[in-house]
Amino acid sequence: MTGLFPATRLRRTRATAWSRALHRETLLAPADLIWPLFVTEGTDIEEPINSLPGVSRWSVDLIVARAREAVALGIPVVALFPNTQPERRSDDGREALNPDNLMCRAIKAIKQACGDDLGVLTDVALDPYTSHGQDGLVDERGYVGNDDTVEVLVGQSLNQAAAGADIIAPSDMMDGRIGAIREALEDAGHVNVQIMSYAAKYASAFYGPFRDAVGSRGLLKGDKKTYQMDPGNSEEALREVELDLAEGADSVMVKPGLPYLDIVRRVKETFEVPVFAYQVSGEYAMIEHAAAAGAGDRDALVLETLLAFKRGGCSGVLTYHAAHAARLLNG
Ligand code: PBG
Repeated sequence: MTGLFPATRLRRTRATAWSRALHRETLLAPADLIWPLFVTEGTDIEEPINSLPGVSRWSVDLIVARAREAVALGIPVVALFPNTQPERRSDDGREALNPDNLMCRAIKAIKQACGDDLGVLTDVALDPYTSHGQDGLVDERGYVGNDDTVEVLVGQSLNQAAAGADIIAPSDMMDGRIGAIREALEDAGHVNVQIMSYAAKYASAFYGPFRDAVGSRGLLKGDKKTYQMDPGNSEEALREVELDLAEGADSVMVKPGLPYLDIVRRVKETFEVPVFAYQVSGEYAMIEHAAAAGAGDRDALVLETLLAFKRGGCSGVLTYHAAHAARLLNG
């Protein structure tokens, strides 16, 4: 034997469970998870979503039960998405401004039940409210206008904050919306309502099951490529993040998750701010289908992918596996 060979054995620290535990660089905990929940009208309603096996829409009373479950599991935040009734959807998505809409009723019910034990994050974008499924206002040529959409998003954000939302999460990708929303929140006295910006959100093929869940898939005409980012771009993600931070975002999100971990890492190293990733519906479905087909152990796949987000630089992850993962982590 020559040189360092016998002295340097990287397998030495891997030889036992206690040593692997001692040397583990990245830890995953329930506190790293944000649980997206879909809300639907009615009482005592659970509607399974076919393309998201194991995920349901819940009526407001049952959403409160999910929220209490999150608290018991140590999950700090739930993210809410409404499945708006078809007759309440319109070209201009005005239901987003209704103080008594499904989203606001869910926020109030959860805050009343859980108070400061649980954060409520609310998605800001018009797609659950528009009859065309786009995230903003569409002109006669089918183009989603920017500045007129931002005006509505500001109203939507104020509506959610008034209902008690703790984190406003704009997912629409309009230019300038973070600054406009921040200013309006300050003016309204909501100084401690956070903004988690979907800063680098890509025009992705992984959103299909989500669109089923909020009922926009069949309605959507065309695609979202004029506002969501091109999957080939990375420099542009840094510009998006830089602007959102300058406009007042408290934290930023990269979306989808696993295929875009390189973006997470670049954003984290460049800006050193809290970065979150959204493990989106299509990613969740991939894991569920792979496990169902016998391609891997479900629990192991769930925990390994979520840990990868932490290793990649995330402060936390939005994942439909949140409750299941928290149960596994709590042993
Ligand atoms: C809406 C929105 C989408 C998702 C979160 N907010 C869909 C889209 O942009 O079409 C996707 C989440 C998922 O796929 O799990 N603006």
